[in-house]
Amino acid sequence: MVLENKRASHLPKHVAIIMDGNGRWASKRLLPREAGHYAGMKSVRETVRAACDLGLENLTLFAFSSENWKRPKTEVGVLMGLLRAYFRSDMDELAGRNVRMRIIGHRSRVASDIQKLIEESEKRTLTNTGMNLTIAFDYGGQEEIVAAARELARAAADGRIDPETITTELFAARLFTSALPSPDLVIRTSGEHRLSNFLLWQSAYAELLFLDTLWPDFDRAALEGALAQFDGRERRFGALDSEAVA
Ligand code: FPP
Repeated sequence: MVLENKRASHLPKHVAIIMDGNGRWASKRLLPREAGHYAGMKSVRETVRAACDLGLENLTLFAFSSENWKRPKTEVGVLMGLLRAYFRSDMDELAGRNVRMRIIGHRSRVASDIQKLIEESEKRTLTNTGMNLTIAFDYGGQEEIVAAARELARAAADGRIDPETITTELFAARLFTSALPSPDLVIRTSGEHRLSNFLLWQSAYAELLFLDTLWPDFDRAALEGALAQFDGRERRFGALDSEAVA
């Protein structure tokens, strides 16, 4: 499938991916779960490159949820190591591709050297105008919404805002994703049909695409296939379809 000439208007503005199935990919090969995460990293690289080549404006990847801390220490360590390695080894390429990096989540809970790498990568790519690549790491959608609500409640209690003036826009401006458009396509790999606390507010009108592919098997062709499926869907945002209106 060739999507190179696809008109930009048919591409989703923002694709968000729940990268699931690394563990099962490894188990199927009688490998330790960690091997699945290493293989998943290859898919991250291929997907990011493909998204850049296709001219996608926003790509968000769910790499570590707030709940993932409950996994065995060694597995958490591997995931932290992969994030560290990604910043160390891929930043030159990403910056060269004009990618702007953002990390969303509780960054205060990750090791200080990783925090530093995150800050450096965000600073280095701050003025880049190509694809926005957002990595959700130690991220949880409910916590994000509660933090925004708490901030607004505090402002109202202090008399800095009138509660009557709180709108969806004002609320969204307090979320990690305030600078990004809402995802219009959320993909989850590995056959699970759940959002698992990912971009809950932001996905209100997103098209959801659940693929059986395990994340380490996700590649350029899989991304193109997902974009083609999005292209075939009709989005109504609560209104009637165009035929019913005509
Ligand atoms: C879910 O698979 C995947 C994760 C918890 C981690 C995703 C991380 C990567 C793909 C690599 C790191 C990426 C970056 C950008 C640093 P699972 O382990 O829950 O799979 P399972 O459901 O089959 O057990």
